[in-house]
Amino acid sequence: MSKPAILVARAIFPEVLRRLESVFEVESNQDDHLFTPQELIQRLQGKAGALVTGSSRIDGAVLQACPDLRMVANMAVGYDNLDIPAMQAAGVLASNTPDVLTETTADFGWALMMATARRVTEAEHFLRAGKWNKWHYDLMSGADIHGSTLGILGMGRIGQAIARRAQGFGMQVMYHNRSRLSAEQEAQANQAQYVSKETLFRQADHIILVLPYSAASHHAVGEAELAMMKPTATLTNIARGGVVDDHALIVALRERRIAAAGLDVFENEPAFAQDFLTLENVVLTPHIASASVKTRRAMADCAADNLIAGLLNGQAKNPLW
Ligand code: DGY
Repeated sequence: MSKPAILVARAIFPEVLRRLESVFEVESNQDDHLFTPQELIQRLQGKAGALVTGSSRIDGAVLQACPDLRMVANMAVGYDNLDIPAMQAAGVLASNTPDVLTETTADFGWALMMATARRVTEAEHFLRAGKWNKWHYDLMSGADIHGSTLGILGMGRIGQAIARRAQGFGMQVMYHNRSRLSAEQEAQANQAQYVSKETLFRQADHIILVLPYSAASHHAVGEAELAMMKPTATLTNIARGGVVDDHALIVALRERRIAAAGLDVFENEPAFAQDFLTLENVVLTPHIASASVKTRRAMADCAADNLIAGLLNGQAKNPLW
């Protein structure tokens, strides 16, 4: 019997590719060429499955043009690039990679929040530019993390892992989420306190965004939310760029209405609002929150396992519908 044909839409660990090749007829993209939407459709035609990342959008137009498609495995926990209702209507299975990246992503949320609060990249740029010629009582003074109040918007697995880490810093944790956690989950999340979104924005010293992106969370942080924040507060985004209104954030940072922001995600990646480059009080990283060697390999393995289980047994390990 011939092997089902699949597309691996982005470069992937060679070992994982070889594993997929033992089961499927694989068209791969190890050169990591970024497909246009039309190219993606061309490559997917005649394929039963695909392993994709957030840069491949699977929507109604793709599904209509690729009637052989039966399963798409997303190598990410976020899946705003997949139109799940359309996939469900077309009977195309979908999966993501939860759990394997939770702790690594939470680590990075902390790294970015701390770099932002303590002005780490700004200080390094200052030193590299040869500007460090004397000690000064106020040189690169930032905001304390320890003993402060952490506000987490979005309290899923990653939000809870971030909250657990706050214990070592003696922080008070408040969170806002679509639904409240159980008392047991709140206790495990460093006694996190459920508050309204407004209370979180008004009272937190450091706010971190970890909520999924959807039409409902589009620009969840805009002018109104930024205006509520303390002028000493920081904002860290490791969710999706579309959660924040970039224009409003640039104005708030430029006018120092908030102290600083740390951004790992942007609307329209890999493009981003170039005005951020003119600001010293923002730390910018290229969507790397899950990028530890071990975790990226676990994500690739998880996506491959999902594709194999979905196409061969009709049931993915981490189904999205
Ligand atoms: C995810 O898993 O959603 C990350 O943002 C991709 O690295």
